[in-house]
This record gives sequence, structure tokens and C-alpha cells, in this order.
Amino acid sequence: MKILAIANQKGGSGKTTTAVSLAAALAERGRRVLLVDLDQQGNASTWFGHADGGEELLNVFLGMKPLADTIRGTEFENLSLVPTSRIFAKADLALVTDPDALFVLRREIARLDATAYDFMILDCPPTLGIVTTNALVAADAVVVPTEPTSLSTTGVANLFETITRLRETHNPALEILGILLCRYDGRTRLTRDIEDKLLTAYSDLILPRSIRQNVRIAEAHAFRQPITIYDPSSAASSDYRAVAELVEARAGREA
Ligand SMILES: Nc1ncnc2c1ncn2[C@@H]1O[C@H](COP(=O)(O)OP(=O)(O)OP(=O)(O)O)[C@@H](O)[C@H]1O
Ligand SMILES: [Mg+2]
Repeated sequence: MKILAIANQKGGSGKTTTAVSLAAALAERGRRVLLVDLDQQGNASTWFGHADGGEELLNVFLGMKPLADTIRGTEFENLSLVPTSRIFAKADLALVTDPDALFVLRREIARLDATAYDFMILDCPPTLGIVTTNALVAADAVVVPTEPTSLSTTGVANLFETITRLRETHNPALEILGILLCRYDGRTRLTRDIEDKLLTAYSDLILPRSIRQNVRIAEAHAFRQPITIYDPSSAASSDYRAVAELVEARAGREA
């Protein structure tokens, strides 16, 4: 099982859309995927029609419930979900006094049957707090969705500092699978400028495929379907499919 954290502390950078769409695109390729919603906003959960789950996930983080007991099926083949909701916001405070606070998720994942899934995808909240750090400690690799705005490049720099530090202290094997440009609109000057800036700063870390700006994404969420199901022939579907292929190839190479 490959564990991918989808992280960027900048809000609205495309994490949840990427977590859900990549999960669905990998599932479509016959991979068994477990999507874990680690954001108390619960956007990945509501995408699949779940408005609860936070209390159960909180109990997992408190060591009172096995992660396996929180997994739910979805109506989509090969795709399972650990949902969450608002109450999961309590996790940060609850873990503050736990000396092993950063290892909780890794420990719980280790208790799962690792042969049941090919990929676990962790949708992180827009912070670099205890929950995101748990994901980065548990993950094999990180995907960093980034909106092409100038602010987002500072966010990426901060995230990479955290990753470098965590490699030294908690998770030496953590890889950066790549920076994924989301809501890409190649027609605007700003987008091209930021892309150039990112390419100069991070060159080979930028994934060779971007996700185009596509209105069908918001519709797909409203209809509670991954974009690859809601509109299989949309630009975003083809972009996420291509990224799934890349992710599969890179994950396989690391294995
Ligand atoms: N390729 C795209 N085309 C158009 N809209 C998009 C695209 N990707 C994401 N969006 C929209 O941008 C907004 C933010 O996306 P998303 O929720 O995936 O970001 P996020 O990083 O998970 O946000 P948060 O930090 O709040 O968790 C959403 O309204 C989503 O519908
Ligand atoms: Mg999100």
C-alpha cells in the first residue's frame, strides 16, 4: 500500500479536489483506494454524501477506536472513505499533551490490513498543525496541489521546510511526489509567470501535467460524484487521469 498525503497549508489550493479526483482516477484504473478525510471542514466527506464521521475519527486519534472501524464504502467501485466532520477539530487540542502525538496516524495505519488497499490518500487541512504533521509522518509521499498565484509559492516554500525537518526527525523516507498546478489557465499572464517562477525554484518537482480550470469540478461536488464519473470527458477528468498514471508510475518506481 502506498500512502499519499495531499498537503498545502494554503487554503483553497486544490487539495480536496485532487484527493477525491485522484482517488477516483486510481480506482478507475483498478486500484483499491482508501481516501481519508483529515480536514474538519469535511469537504471530501460531503463529496460522497457524508456529513458525519468526525467523532469516530477523533476517537481514532485518541486511541479509542481502530481506524478499520471507521472505513465506509462508497457507491463507486474500488473506492472507500474515512469521513470526518466539524467535531474532528478537537483533535489538535486533544493531542497537544500526547508525547507521541505526531505518530498516532502512522500507528493506526500500521494496524490496518495493508493488503486490502493499493493506495491510501490523505486529504489534509489547510494548516501545518498536528493533523497535517501526522499525515506527513505517516505518508510515503506528498503531492502538493498549488494554485498559480504568487502567494501560493511562499506556501510551498514553508511546506518544504517542514518536510525537510520531518525527514530529519520523524519520517526519513518521505518523498515529494510532486507539485501539481491546479486551476491552471494557461491563457493568463499571471499563471504563466507563476509557473515560470515555480519551475525555476523547483524544476523537476513540478509534475509535467497540470489540472486545468474547469467549472465542472464544482458541479461534480454538488452532485456528489467524482469528476471522472460526473463528466468523464471533461478536461479535468482527462488531467486527473493523466496525473493518476504519473502517480502510479512514480509510486511504483519508489517501491
Ligand atoms: N481545476 C479546477 N477548476 C475549477 N475549480 C476548481 C478546480 N480545482 C478546485 N476548484 C475549486 O476551488 C475551490 C478550492 O478547491 P479545494 O476545495 O479542492 O481546495 P482545498 O485546498 O482542499 O481547500 P481547503 O484548504 O479549504 O481545504 C473549490 O471551490 C473547488 O471547487
Ligand atoms: Mg480541502
